[in-house]
Amino acid sequence: MSFVIAIDGPAAAGKGTISRAVAQKFGLAHLDTGLLYRAVGKRVLAGDEAITAARSLRPEDLKGDDLRRSEVAQAASRVAAIPQVRAALVDFQREFAQRTGGAVLDGRDIGTVICPDADVKLFVTASAEARAARRHAEDVLARPDLTFDEVLADVKARDDRDMNRADAPLRAAGDAVTIDTTQLDVAEAIATAVQAINARRGSV
Ligand code: CDP
Repeated sequence: MSFVIAIDGPAAAGKGTISRAVAQKFGLAHLDTGLLYRAVGKRVLAGDEAITAARSLRPEDLKGDDLRRSEVAQAASRVAAIPQVRAALVDFQREFAQRTGGAVLDGRDIGTVICPDADVKLFVTASAEARAARRHAEDVLARPDLTFDEVLADVKARDDRDMNRADAPLRAAGDAVTIDTTQLDVAEAIATAVQAINARRGSV
């Protein structure tokens, strides 16, 4: 039986950490769908046209540390507002979700658009300040001059674009379990997610 877990939420809320941990715990494949949009954003920064880039994405485009850079994240959220870009990436995500053994997908529209029938939907969120503090702690190692205020502005700009776009805006699915990680450490956030998944698994 295939078991699908959809994990959505705003930037730096802890989706990636939770997704990797639950994928490992339940033996499921994991797709970070943000990488698809980041890969398109990166190609646009290199001069490609967004829709063409989305339609011709290759597996090797999803690799590389530079996909985590903040200018790539901003470019990702700009291309993510283009309906034809989103449409070009749907089949790949749905095929991934249907793989035997099940899958965890994390992103912005997994529970609402990509996998509306997912067995479990989590919406992972946290205050903008808490999310910016975490992202700042990660990114300042590579960029010592990076300030908290810059990261906060970046996070808020992306939230605004992701929540207010017309096509597949970021929002919790009606049947999602919301996990607010503002006051949780990594272990507590993972434990809360595992508990929510086990509660749903029992009833599937
Ligand atoms: O890791 P972080 O939460 O900062 O971002 P990400 O998940 O890598 O996503 C980067 C950008 O891609 C987001 O700001 C969204 O604009 C877009 N995205 C999307 O529109 N739909 C998804 N399913 C995943 C990402």
